Amino acid sequence: MGKVYVFDHPLIQHKVALIRSKDTSVKDFRELVREVAMLMGYEATRDLPLEEKEIETPICSTKVKMLAGEDIAIVPILRAGLGFVDGMLSLVPNAKVGHVGMYRDPVTHEPVEYYCKLPKDIEKRRIFVVDPMLATGGSAVDAINAIKKRDGSHITFMCLIAAPEGIEALQKAHPDVDIYIAAKDDHLNEDAYIVPGLGDAGDRLYGTK
Ligand code: PRP
Ligand code: URA
Repeated sequence: MGKVYVFDHPLIQHKVALIRSKDTSVKDFRELVREVAMLMGYEATRDLPLEEKEIETPICSTKVKMLAGEDIAIVPILRAGLGFVDGMLSLVPNAKVGHVGMYRDPVTHEPVEYYCKLPKDIEKRRIFVVDPMLATGGSAVDAINAIKKRDGSHITFMCLIAAPEGIEALQKAHPDVDIYIAAKDDHLNEDAYIVPGLGDAGDRLYGTK
């Protein structure tokens, strides 16, 4: 079973509190999501492989550890996952970016896939799937299905807020995937929104409501 990592870092908790508030503007929401993505990415990339290299400092030659150059792909689930991309890219600027488009049917709450474009060498890449919300888990499960169907493996999932139902569904469908969560919430309401949550992440990120 993949591990579930819930962040207790004070900076992340503070920023997630601001993100949740209905009084936070679209501009601030977007900026805060970018910052939290970067803070989470620092931890989620902890196991990237290193290799030893010899370099010259101004004083002498020395052995140092540098990233071994594992190829990375960041895959946001559209739309709201796009909010994580800049923060992650500021840590791993050479990563390629794939996109999986999913929307939830407003009545059934089932995810509907409408787009999938991944780096063509996705099978070689370490993949970070990003989406602010893990509610029923349907979108994340199906997005990862779409990536695996195209031979992606070694996948990590990152989100801001998760409901227990979504964590369980994702672990059950993809036990090989580690999950990084900034905050674990209480439950889903009758519209399958996370409580207390932050509302509709896509609308808050893009001001569409
Ligand atoms: C939101 C969110 C996730 C999904 C989570 O997207 O960004 O992708 O809902 O819900 P689930 O775990 O129950 O599947 P939404 O469908 O609202 O699309 P949007 O990002 O285009 O607004
Ligand atoms: N999607 C959202 O954007 N918010 C929720 O609370 C659940 C699904």
